[in-house]
Amino acid sequence: MKDKQIIFSGMRPTGRMHIGHYFGALKNWVELQENYKCIFGITDWHALTTSFEDTASLENNIIEMAADWLAVGINPEKSILILQSWVPEHAELHLLFSMITPVGWLERNPVLKEQLQDMGLKEAVGYGHLGYPVLMASDILIYKAVKVPVGEDQVPHIEITREIARRFNYLYGEVFPEPQALLTEAPRILGIDGKKMSKSLNNYIGLSESPEEVRKKIRSMFTDPEKIRLSDAGHPERCNVFSLHRLLVNPRLGEIEKECREGKWGCVSCKEELSELMVKFLEKVVPHREKYQREKHLVKEILWEGSKKARQIAQATLEEAKEAMKLSYDF
Ligand code: AMP
Ligand code: TRP
Repeated sequence: MKDKQIIFSGMRPTGRMHIGHYFGALKNWVELQENYKCIFGITDWHALTTSFEDTASLENNIIEMAADWLAVGINPEKSILILQSWVPEHAELHLLFSMITPVGWLERNPVLKEQLQDMGLKEAVGYGHLGYPVLMASDILIYKAVKVPVGEDQVPHIEITREIARRFNYLYGEVFPEPQALLTEAPRILGIDGKKMSKSLNNYIGLSESPEEVRKKIRSMFTDPEKIRLSDAGHPERCNVFSLHRLLVNPRLGEIEKECREGKWGCVSCKEELSELMVKFLEKVVPHREKYQREKHLVKEILWEGSKKARQIAQATLEEAKEAMKLSYDF
């Protein structure tokens, strides 16, 4: 593992994962494990930035999310899995970074603006919430990660990480790399209503969804609005059902595309075929998942051991940062 480049990515523990998480990020994580030294974090402190009132579900959400990660192929023998709050060095680096981060950078953050609008919060943003990208920067930079595999919505945050690294290096000397976001070929998966798939919009297909539920959800999916009858010419490039056929690598993709355009293939059959592909894909995931959900101690142990390993790297970087800042006092 010594010469491999380091990757960090994380997710807030929101519970069970959906196919947006999988195709937008997790699938990439699984593949990257082969060629990089990967560290993946369950960022429970980040969950508090918006859900500080609802902490009762946090513990269960951590287990649910970790079970999904392990089920899809995140392998603790290849990667380090951490729970953010078990690596407290992230918090210390966050504090140091907070000193050098202008508030203007955070207020301009488009992700924050969108969240405030969605949540109707406007001016009432919390101090921790405003600092969300600073904590993200410390998650990434404490491991000197050079690549960060995420979905498209996270890119502005990673830009702030780069700015913080640059500013630190300028002020105190070269310590941190400037990491880059790594997107999948599908960085923004749409939900059944055609908006970005997300838990809060309840427009998702979950990784542990039952076959009946999958069929029901796919049946209600939006398609090309110009194709009303089977004989209408369709536009697969504008149809989310078609993009899911592509993601699930339907061997009949070319045929479907052609027949849809020619008005010889209808949305009902197209959805039925997609449902069967999706059910098969999810079946591959579910059996493994149940094992981890049943044996919670296994998940806890994986996160505990991973966090212990990660702390060694984190402590070394923190020391280096403090030395650069002349904070390693030698009285
Ligand atoms: P979230 O649950 O929104 O915190 O997202 C966790 C990770 O999954 C981040 O890397 C997101 O960018 C990614 N992700 C979530 N939803 C989607 C989606 N609909 N399409 C692509 N990536 C997504
Ligand atoms: N903000 C990310 C999300 O909502 C989670 C996250 C926290 C993260 N720290 C990170 C992602 C560091 C990448 C790198 O999913």
